[in-house]
Amino acid sequence: MKVVIIGAGYVGLTTGACLAELGHHVLCIDIDEARIAAIKSRKLPVYEPDLENLVARNLDCNRLAFSHAIGSNISDAELVFLAVGTPSRADGDIDLSYVETAARNVAPHLGEQAAVVIKSTVTAGTAKYIRDLIVRIRGDRAIDVASNPEFLREGSAVRDFMKPDRIVIGADRNASQVKLVELYAAFERRGVPVLKTTTINAELIKYAANAFLALKIGFINQVADLCEGAEADVVAVSEGMGLDSRIGRAFLSPGPGYGGSCFPKDTRAFAAIGRRYGQPQSLVETLIGDNELRKTNLADRILEELGNPEGGRVTILGTAFKANTDDMREAAALAIVPKLIEAGVEVRAHDPKARFQASRLLPDVLWYDCPYEASDASDAIVILTEWEDYRRLDLSRLAGAMRGDCLIDYRNLLTSDDVVAHGLHYVSIGRPKALARTRPRKQGSGVSARIKIAASPS
Ligand code: NAI
Repeated sequence: MKVVIIGAGYVGLTTGACLAELGHHVLCIDIDEARIAAIKSRKLPVYEPDLENLVARNLDCNRLAFSHAIGSNISDAELVFLAVGTPSRADGDIDLSYVETAARNVAPHLGEQAAVVIKSTVTAGTAKYIRDLIVRIRGDRAIDVASNPEFLREGSAVRDFMKPDRIVIGADRNASQVKLVELYAAFERRGVPVLKTTTINAELIKYAANAFLALKIGFINQVADLCEGAEADVVAVSEGMGLDSRIGRAFLSPGPGYGGSCFPKDTRAFAAIGRRYGQPQSLVETLIGDNELRKTNLADRILEELGNPEGGRVTILGTAFKANTDDMREAAALAIVPKLIEAGVEVRAHDPKARFQASRLLPDVLWYDCPYEASDASDAIVILTEWEDYRRLDLSRLAGAMRGDCLIDYRNLLTSDDVVAHGLHYVSIGRPKALARTRPRKQGSGVSARIKIAASPS
C-alpha cells in the first residue's frame, strides 16, 4: 500500500521504517528540515536499537522516502498517518495543536480514496473532531479519519512494532477499517489479535492501558517503600507477585518514578478526560502526585546520605528516562539533579546515549564519556538509569576513583554483597537496610569528614 506518515519522531520514523520493511511504500514527512536532512544522510535524530539499519535498508530499496514538505507528494497515498507530538498542557489535558496543524496541512492534498489515521496518542473524541475539521476544509464528506494507537516502547520500538501483542483499529466507517486491516494483514496472518472497534474506544484503550501500566509502577514503588520499613526485600516480593499470571512480571521493578514521553503525559491526560466527563480517575490522580513526590524524595535521600551536601560531589550514572533510549523527556534526572545543585553539590554525569540531549537540559552538569572518569573524587555515585553497562561496573575501579564511599542504586542493578565487598556503602530501593549499610564510611571520606579536615588548622 502507499502510506504517508506525518511526523518522523520515535513513533513516525519507527512506523515508517517497519511498514516499509513489511513491503509497503512509505513517505515520511517532518516539518523539521534538519531532521529530514539528517535521516536522508543516514544519521538518525533519535537512538533506537535496530532502527538505523532498518531505515538504511528500506531507503536503499526505495520503499522508504523522506520529505519536509506536504503537497502533491501525498495525493496518491491510501493511508495518511498523523504521528506528531501531543504534549501536555498546563491543565494536564493534551495540546492538540500539532495534530490540528498536520490535519490542516494534509487536508487540501488528500486523494479521494485516502483515509487519515491518527497514530498520535490523543484524547477521547479527537478522530471525530479532526474528521469534522478536514471535512470543513475540503467540503467533502467522504473523508474518513481512523484511530490506530501505537503501543511501542522506546528502547525496543522496532521489536515492539514488528511483534505486537495486539493491533487496535478504531474506525467509525468501513472504508478506513478495511484499509487498515489490509495494511496489517501480515500480522493478522501470524496470529496477532487485531481488535476492530470505534475511534473513541481506540482512543481510550491507549490511555487506559498506559494508565494501568503506570499504576503498576507506582504500586511497586510503594511496595518497595513498605519493604524498607518492614525489612523485607522487594525483589523477592515482586517476583512472587509477578509469577501470578493474572498479575504478570512486567512493570514490577521499583525505581525513581516513571518518566519519558508517554506515562507522565498520558496519565495526566487520562485524569483530564475523567474530569471532563465528570468521572474522576482518582487512582490515577493520586498516582500522578505520588510519582512526582517520589523523585523529590529520592533527591532528598541523596542529600541525606551526603550529610552536609555543600561542596559535595555526586556522579549520576544514567540520565535517560530509561535504558536503551536517549530520550530525556520527564526523566527522573531532571527532577533530582537541580535539587542537588541547589543544595551546593557539584554534579557530574555519564550516560551512554543521552548526553547530547541531557547536556542541554542540565547545563550545570559536568559530562564525561566514561563512568569511571565521571566518578573521580566523587562523594556519592547514583545510578538512575538501568543501562546494562552499569550492571557490569568494575567496582574496584569505581571505589578507587571515589573520595567518598556511597553508592546509591535507584535501579537495584547491583547486589549488596558485591558493593560492600569493595568497601562501599550501598543504598538501594526496597531492600533490607541491614544488607544495605554494612560498613562505616572510609576514614576521612564523605562530605562532612572532608569539610571537617579542611576546616581544621594544619
Ligand atoms: P516526537 O516528538 O519524537 O516526534 C514528533 C515529530 O513530529 C517531530 O519530529 C516534529 O518535528 C514532527 N511534527 C510536528 N508537527 C508536524 C507537522 N505539522 N508536520 C510534520 N511534522 C510535524 O514524538 P513521538 O515520541 O514520536 O510521539 C508522537 C506521538 O506518538 C505522541 O502522541 C506520543 O504520545 C505517541 N506515542 C509515543 C510513544 C513513544 O514511545 N515515544 C509510544 C506510543 C505513542
